[in-house]
Amino acid sequence: MKLTVVGTGYVGLVSGACFADLGNQVICVDIDEAKIEGLKNGVMPIYEPGLKEIVERNHEQGNLKFTTSIEQGVQESDIIFIAVGTPSAEDGGADLSAVEAVAQKIATNLNDDKIVINKSTVPVGTGDWVEEYIAKHKTTEHDFTVVSCPEFLREGSAVSDTMEPDRIVIGSNDQQAAETLDQLHQDFGAPIIHTDRYSAEVIKYAANAFLATKISFINEIANICELTGANVEEVARGIGTDHRISDKFLRAGVGFGGACFPKDTKAIVKTAQEYGYDFKVVNSVVEVNKLQKKSLVTKLKQILPDLAGRTIALLGLAFKPNTDDMREAPSRTVVKQLLEAGAEVKAYDPIAMEEAQEIFGDDIEYATDAYDALKDSDAALLVTEWNEFQELDLLRVKNLLQQPILIDGRNCYQPAEMKEEGFIYHSVGRPAVTKEDLLAFEEIAATGE
Ligand SMILES: NC(=O)c1ccc[n+]([C@@H]2O[C@H](COP(=O)([O-])OP(=O)(O)OC[C@H]3O[C@@H](n4cnc5c(N)ncnc54)[C@H](O)[C@@H]3O)[C@@H](O)[C@H]2O)c1
Repeated sequence: MKLTVVGTGYVGLVSGACFADLGNQVICVDIDEAKIEGLKNGVMPIYEPGLKEIVERNHEQGNLKFTTSIEQGVQESDIIFIAVGTPSAEDGGADLSAVEAVAQKIATNLNDDKIVINKSTVPVGTGDWVEEYIAKHKTTEHDFTVVSCPEFLREGSAVSDTMEPDRIVIGSNDQQAAETLDQLHQDFGAPIIHTDRYSAEVIKYAANAFLATKISFINEIANICELTGANVEEVARGIGTDHRISDKFLRAGVGFGGACFPKDTKAIVKTAQEYGYDFKVVNSVVEVNKLQKKSLVTKLKQILPDLAGRTIALLGLAFKPNTDDMREAPSRTVVKQLLEAGAEVKAYDPIAMEEAQEIFGDDIEYATDAYDALKDSDAALLVTEWNEFQELDLLRVKNLLQQPILIDGRNCYQPAEMKEEGFIYHSVGRPAVTKEDLLAFEEIAATGE
C-alpha cells in the first residue's frame, strides 16, 4: 500500500520504517528540514536499537522516502498517518496545533479518496474535530475518512514493539476503512481490536494512565517500606506473582518521565475536568510522581545537609535506558535541585550527552564516562538504570569518590552487597546502609563477633 506518515519522530519514523519493511511504499514527512536532510544521508535523528539498519535498508531499496513536502506526501498516498507531537499545553491539555496544521494540509491536497489515521495521542473527540476540519477546508470533492489508530510502542524497544505489538487498536466508524487497515496490519500478526473512534482515543490514555498509576503506586509502597523497614522488592515479588496484578511496572524508582506518561496523565485529567469530572486517582498519580522525582536529593541531603560547593556525580540522564530522550526525565528535576542547592553537577549518560548539552548548556559538567563523573565527586546519584551502571567496579567507584556515598534511584545494587563494599547507600524502598551501619559492620569484621 502507499502510505505517508506525517511527523518523523519516534512514532512516525519507527512506524514508517516498519511499514516499509513489510513491503509498503512509505513517505515520511517532517517540517524539520535538518532532520529530513539527515535521514536522506543516513543520519538518525534519534537513538533506537535496530532503527538505523531498517531505515537504511528500506531507503536504499526505495520503499522509504523522506521529504518536507506534506503536499507530496498527501498526494502520492492512499493512507495518511498523523504522527506529530501533541505536547502538554499550559493548562495540562494536549496541544493540538501540529495536528491542526497537518489537517489543514490534508484538506488542501486531497487529490483522491484517502484514509487519514490519527496515530498521535489525542483527546477523545479529536477524530471528530479533524474530520470536521478537513471537511470544512477541503478544496476538492474527494472523500476521506478519519480513523484512530493509537500507538503503543515504548522508546528503547520501539522497533521490536512495532514489529511484534501486543495488539493493534483500530477505532473506526467506517467499515471499509477498518477492513483496509486490517489488511495493512495483518503482517504484524497481532490481535486487532476494533472499536468506535472515541473508544480508541480513550484506550491510549487509559493504558498510559494505568501504567503510570502502577508506577506511582509501587513508589508509594516503597515510601511506606522505607518508613517501616520492609523491602519493596520483596513486596513487589509477593504481589507481582498474582496474575491479576502481574509483575510488570512494579519496580520502584525515581519516578516516571519521557514524552508520554507525564503529558498523557495530565491530559486525561484535563479531559475529565472539561466534562465536569474530577479524575482523583490520576491526579494523585501526577502529584506522587512530582515528589518521587525529588526523593533522591532529599535522601542525599540526609547525608550531606549542605550541598553548596559539593560536586555530585550523576549517572544517567535519559528518562530510561536505551534512549536519548530526556523529555520530563527525572534527571532534569535532580539537576535543578542540585544546582539550586549550590552543588556542582558532573554528569554522564551513555547516549544522551548531546541532548543534555542542549538542555543544561554550561550549567553542568559533562564526564567522558561513569568513572570520570565519579572521580573526586562527593557523592553519586544513579538516575537511569543503563546496563553499564549496573556493572560498575565498586572498588574503583569507592576509590574515586571523595566519600563512598551512592544514592541509587533505580535499585541497581543490593544493600547487603553495598554494605560489604563499604558504601553509604540509599535506594528506593529498601533498608538504607548508613554511616553507623558501616561502622558497626567494620567493628564486627574487626573483632570477628
Ligand atoms: N514517543 C513515544 O514513545 C510515543 C509512544 C506512543 C505514542 N506517542 C505519541 O505519538 C505522537 C508523536 O510522538 P513522538 O514521540 O514521535 O514525537 P516527536 O516529537 O519525536 O516527533 C514529532 C515530529 O513531528 C514533526 N512535526 C511537528 N509538526 C509538524 C507538521 N506540521 N508537519 C510535519 N511534521 C511535523 C516534528 O518536527 C517532529 O519531528 C505524540 O502524540 C505522542 O504522544 C509517542
